Amino acid sequence: MINNKNTDLNVTNSDDKENIPSNTSGNRPFADVLKTNISRRSVLQGSLATAATTFLAPQAMAFDILNEEQPSEGEAPEGLCNFAPLSIEDATQDNTVPSIAWEYKYQVLIPWGTPLEPGIVEEYTGDPTIRPTSKEASQQIGIGHDGMWFFPEDSKYSPYKEYGYELNSKRGMLCINHEFGRTSHVLGKSAPESLEDVRVMQNVHGVSVVAIETDDGWWDVAKSSNSRRITVNTPVEFSGPAAGSALLQNPNGNIPLGTVNNCGSGPTPWGTYLTCEENFNGYFGATEGEGFNDRLTEEQARYGFDYDGFGYGWEFFDKRFDLSDPEYINESNRFGWIVEIDPFDASKKPVKRTALGRVKHEAIAIAESANGQIAAYMGDDQRFDYCYKYVSDLPWQQAIDEGKSPLDEGKLFVARFNDDGTGEWMELTIEDPLLADRFADQAELLINTRIAADILGATPMDRPEWTTIGKNGEVYWTLTNNSRRTTPNAANPEAPNSDGHIIRTTDSGDFLGNTFTWEIYLIASSFRGTEETFTDPDAAWADPFGRLFIGTDGGQPDGLQDQLIVFDTTAEKPVPKRLLTGVNSDEITGFTITPDQRTAFINIQHPGNGDPSSTNFPAKPDGITIPRDCTLVIQRKDGGIIGS
Ligand code: FEO
Ligand code: CA
Ligand code: CA
Repeated sequence: MINNKNTDLNVTNSDDKENIPSNTSGNRPFADVLKTNISRRSVLQGSLATAATTFLAPQAMAFDILNEEQPSEGEAPEGLCNFAPLSIEDATQDNTVPSIAWEYKYQVLIPWGTPLEPGIVEEYTGDPTIRPTSKEASQQIGIGHDGMWFFPEDSKYSPYKEYGYELNSKRGMLCINHEFGRTSHVLGKSAPESLEDVRVMQNVHGVSVVAIETDDGWWDVAKSSNSRRITVNTPVEFSGPAAGSALLQNPNGNIPLGTVNNCGSGPTPWGTYLTCEENFNGYFGATEGEGFNDRLTEEQARYGFDYDGFGYGWEFFDKRFDLSDPEYINESNRFGWIVEIDPFDASKKPVKRTALGRVKHEAIAIAESANGQIAAYMGDDQRFDYCYKYVSDLPWQQAIDEGKSPLDEGKLFVARFNDDGTGEWMELTIEDPLLADRFADQAELLINTRIAADILGATPMDRPEWTTIGKNGEVYWTLTNNSRRTTPNAANPEAPNSDGHIIRTTDSGDFLGNTFTWEIYLIASSFRGTEETFTDPDAAWADPFGRLFIGTDGGQPDGLQDQLIVFDTTAEKPVPKRLLTGVNSDEITGFTITPDQRTAFINIQHPGNGDPSSTNFPAKPDGITIPRDCTLVIQRKDGGIIGS
């Protein structure tokens, strides 16, 4: 989620609200001698060496067409990651449109307001004099494009293992998160004035499952009976250990509905989509007013609830979001979960998998052990919060054959990073006497995962964002920044941590063990002053061949906008290669790719923070049209593999 949200009058101080630490556990490992497993000097030297390879590339521009007017030059470079990176000079010519490395081209796909299927509703094109109705919004692509995954048509495939031309790379279902939109961006006013206004806001949030296809490289929305919108009002199910808990029921007896603030995501090996509920607390408030804060429970405080949330004001028109309404006392416990969606079966309800814990889930990456058990890696994005792992009890195929979900029966762990490069996965189980002292059962423990992790002495991190599994089974964790860290430790070596870092861990026991080793993969500030500069690593995806794609979220140095950068993780040192930069005040997030690896999709989130004087993208610059969050389709001009 955005790092500079407090520029919006509507969402007052929400940067602080969403990132302010709520961890008062005192889990602070002793500061140690800085052992970062990385030589910053050597990184700097490596960066300067490649900085000589700059190209005077024309800036890429595209509106409704692929920007392929630039000639394709030369053969596809050999090697993992040999494209000529976008230079700072070229990237900063015009920040009202994205810029892309010259060997690449992009196309805009599914901006906010696009009909979910061709012809079912009018497109909302960013005209500031009109706004979508709630009904229209429910049939359109939402806003706040974030985590996503492309599921090829006609194949139940394993996204982690199968690549190549035998799978469909021309048509599939795109599952895409709509993390958030500001009220001012969507409604053109600072706060909702009616239930209809709230319903518009609710309907632009959530998830889209949308069929997309291409004939000749140009992608578009297609018809499908499985295309659908999932919002905070869509019926959902709970499963796993907490599903039957009284703490997930309200005196009102209302059925479980919806998902919100869907940030990152991850596919499962059995072909479903996992969407992650992050800053859910911000949508709740208390009509009772400021005095409510004196009555906040420890449990509510640990998740950052308070009387005015992020200022969305839903509580004034929709009682579910009123923390002070005794009829809905446990509604807020129904959010903060990982939610499973079947892209190819619209009749199935989304399922909230409680065994994976309740935190501000950023994203999820699943590794498969040789015996078929899975390990799922998850970050809890808040300053001084933790890294988690879930391990299934059964091999995933066996669980499915027995009619179970691999995500319902398993163990949840939280990480302790030791300063010597080792670490422990500590199980969050009611069998642990320390946790049995605090919680009545596993359900209550899972609903209060953060407090359980505090009790076990987990290591507070610098905002764990995405996770991804590397070529050799190493797990990359983006730690985006932490302006409030005052005491460094080995795993969080910068204080304050202005630019973020990336850690990689390797588990014992073929992903299943409860110990790991770790090293710092990179510290972003070490690239300051070089051509490769970037900060605030956030979205992450590693392909099976050794490339690591990183999207950034934060003010970038040297006039750059947020970036998509690529690393060859098989190289001795990390060398960032800039593939794309976005537009003013946006965030580059989400990443998915077709099985043939020839087409990638990334998202431009909150372009211009919704301000038409900042950018009108994807419309042509006119100073008037409201900028719209959108997906970019990225291809190499020579048809080669993305990232090469
Ligand atoms: Fe939704 Fe932590 O980014
Ligand atoms: Ca993020
Ligand atoms: Ca972020």
